[in-house]
Amino acid sequence: SAPLRVHAASRGKFIGAALATSPLANESQYRTIAATEFSQVTAENAMKWDSTEPSQGQFNFSGADQIVTFATQNNQQVHGHTLVWHSQTPGWVQSLGATAMRSAMQNHISNVVGHYANNATVTSWDVVNEVFDDNGNMRTSFWYNTLGQSYIADAFRAARAADSNARLCINDYNVEGINAKSTAMYNLVSSLRQQGVPVDCVGFQGHLAIQYGFPSQVQQNMQRFADLGVQVRVTELDVRMIMPRDSTKDTTQATYYRDVVNACLAVTACAGITIWGFTDKYSWVPDTFSGQGAALIYDASYQQKPAYTAVHDAL
Ligand code: XIL
Repeated sequence: SAPLRVHAASRGKFIGAALATSPLANESQYRTIAATEFSQVTAENAMKWDSTEPSQGQFNFSGADQIVTFATQNNQQVHGHTLVWHSQTPGWVQSLGATAMRSAMQNHISNVVGHYANNATVTSWDVVNEVFDDNGNMRTSFWYNTLGQSYIADAFRAARAADSNARLCINDYNVEGINAKSTAMYNLVSSLRQQGVPVDCVGFQGHLAIQYGFPSQVQQNMQRFADLGVQVRVTELDVRMIMPRDSTKDTTQATYYRDVVNACLAVTACAGITIWGFTDKYSWVPDTFSGQGAALIYDASYQQKPAYTAVHDAL
């Protein structure tokens, strides 16, 4: 039957995957599935600050360009991830004083977004990532501690200046349902837009876990952001489980994937869904959440799981 991207297109949505540079270069099975099933790609790591500007003013786009070239060859769009984040950012940035840090941020955005500004494949960016704590307070990252909240508006303005056509997103996790954190995000996006800050899009990462339950009111949450006038998207979907995997867990996992797809389908402003990888062979989950895994839609041998069928059938 037809690949996911064909079904997604028939519903007016994209279906994406995060891609890692090493298997993309070395594994034909990985490349084939990435090319045929998905209409959008995100670099899992290759566009992060530690990859693109490891030392000050020394830009390296080798991994990022590898992803973008692959996407162009396969008629896919790239969502740039991510410009300003507290993680995977070199120590030299973190130790700057306020004036120098603000300039470094603006220079980074200008160079990275500018590198792709005339590239039709790269159409959107996560400008800031994970600015909130789970209780809805601003995360006390080195960005916030050095610059205060103003770095967020400054980052969006710098991104707009570097590419007037790119769609500019704010992205976070645990904001899929209605809760304190998503409400803080809602209030921030509303206030930024009232001030004329160019926030075009809100990304819900979607790192879910079957043992924590499905988030409540996902469709209503997407809709309240849509009603602010922004596009919404699911940017990093995966559904992990406590290992070992079994058929009961696989079935539950499939319903989570299905329900995320259905929420996006029900909201006109939801552009699509990106899965954070596609095969359990390459997933951040086992490295990050001890004892957990099997979060993706293909198993480690590239066989489709019930989650694949659920996404396929929902689209
Ligand atoms: C993760 C990658 O998947 C890992 O390979 C890397 O070691 C750490 O970062 N939120 C994000 C992503 O926005 O960039 C993270 O990606 C997962 C959580």
